[in-house]
Amino acid sequence: MGRETIAILDFGSQYCQLIARRIREHNVYSAIFRADTTSEELSRLGVKGLILSGGPASVYDESAPRCDEKIFAMGVPILGICYGMQLGCQILGAEVIAAQRREYGRTNLSIADKKDLFANLPDSTTVWASHGDQVGQLGKDFLKLAQTQTCPYAAVKHKKKNFFGVQFHPEVAHTPRGSVILRNFLYDICGCSGDWKMSDFVTATVEEVRAKVGEASVICGLSGGVDSSVVAALLHKAVGDRLVCIFVDNGLLRRNERENVVSTFRDHFHIDLRVVDWSEQFLRGLAGVTDPQQKRRIIGAEFIDAFKSGASKISNAKFLAQGTLYPDVIESGAKDGNPAANIKLHHNVGALPTELGFELIEPLRDLFKDEVRVVGEYLGLPEDIVWRHPFPGPGLAVRIIGEVMRERLELLRAVDEILIDEIRSAGLYRKISQALAVLMPISTVGVMGDERSYENVIAIRAVETPDFMTADFSQIPYEVLGVISNRIINEVRGINRVVYDISSKPPATIEWE
Ligand code: XMP
Repeated sequence: MGRETIAILDFGSQYCQLIARRIREHNVYSAIFRADTTSEELSRLGVKGLILSGGPASVYDESAPRCDEKIFAMGVPILGICYGMQLGCQILGAEVIAAQRREYGRTNLSIADKKDLFANLPDSTTVWASHGDQVGQLGKDFLKLAQTQTCPYAAVKHKKKNFFGVQFHPEVAHTPRGSVILRNFLYDICGCSGDWKMSDFVTATVEEVRAKVGEASVICGLSGGVDSSVVAALLHKAVGDRLVCIFVDNGLLRRNERENVVSTFRDHFHIDLRVVDWSEQFLRGLAGVTDPQQKRRIIGAEFIDAFKSGASKISNAKFLAQGTLYPDVIESGAKDGNPAANIKLHHNVGALPTELGFELIEPLRDLFKDEVRVVGEYLGLPEDIVWRHPFPGPGLAVRIIGEVMRERLELLRAVDEILIDEIRSAGLYRKISQALAVLMPISTVGVMGDERSYENVIAIRAVETPDFMTADFSQIPYEVLGVISNRIINEVRGINRVVYDISSKPPATIEWE
């Protein structure tokens, strides 16, 4: 491997991808490896440093994952995080015990040694911890670098080996100075120069896709959202005319969405884009259905049929490209068969490929949303697409409480257009992560002119979130909410009341269904 690489050994941490992402933020390339990758393999790759991830096990469990102990003789710097620290300390002679009190959540770290790993940090800083075990006896070969109230050895360093351990998680946002700690490790301890850029990701991915695909064609399901748009642009760069995009018009789209997608991808990018108009089938399937999960099931099934219909007309297609991102993998509980509670049936992850018999290409699988945007900008996608708010696969169907009907869809399209228009005019579109309108087909009383009205309610929801897994409602100024409400009530027939959703996620989800 020519480029500077940091290897992350995965001991089952939910944060491995996050560690990789934090390293990318410092312009250093990193790759995740199995916990038991041999020192020979790692030396052959010429890694500049190693990170031992956290993990759920206890180092003294018989089945606990171990690493090749010879990695400590490789001479490259090693940073152990949580379980990784405990394992490294145990192998190098310290004693790991069950802590008297589990440490979970934010805690204060007092730094005793502000050199190398903790250079440029204050004497004390907040860190996020989550552990039951900890180092009990350090032994003579180690130096203590920092402590917390319940953990006397919250950070340590081996005196002779180039090994550092931190009992907390520098990679999570709840450790505000974690980035400085990782930077110190990468630049000052491993001697990285930071030669990696997101454009390198594009180059490497394009090469990988070409090698995998050969002379075959690739189908890409294009929704017009950021993720699938970036995948389409990336694949087009890799295989040119052998990319065929399928856009399914499900009749549940925003106003002008189909036209906009066609104009961007067919007219601007010259991509072979096939539109499958399946709106009749979707609406027929949804007639009379009010249960949210049932709606999602029907939409998922229709989507597969629509997609099959489009795909059957494409010859020599062996691959299907999807814009799955890392958070999708987590939220759908798809990771390693680890069933996280299934809150909503997401039909866009995992459902298509086995049904259709295509081999899957998911070039964005390791990336986070904001990284995908950087890739999109680099590929020259219009700003409008790169910075788009997410829009759910089931479209407006999950924003109409109760039955989905044509007139309700038309009404919601008009409302949605006003909402997004006003949010843009107020300069809030980028600050808000996602804004949406929900149609509540219950009637409430109003007065219009001198007449009594009895019409539907619209709920506006706008959230701010780094990752869509948790979210706060956005504190849109009252004046802006006022304009939105006035315009909706004046311009859209059938609405006489607008309310604002002030719930956070959790417990409320972003979409209402
Ligand atoms: P929730 O409502 O679960 O949404 O808080 C989190 C994010 O996911 C979007 N979402 C979906 N996206 N297919 C999608 O492609 C779906 O079935 C789906 N359901 C929710 C939602 O808009 C938000 O951005």
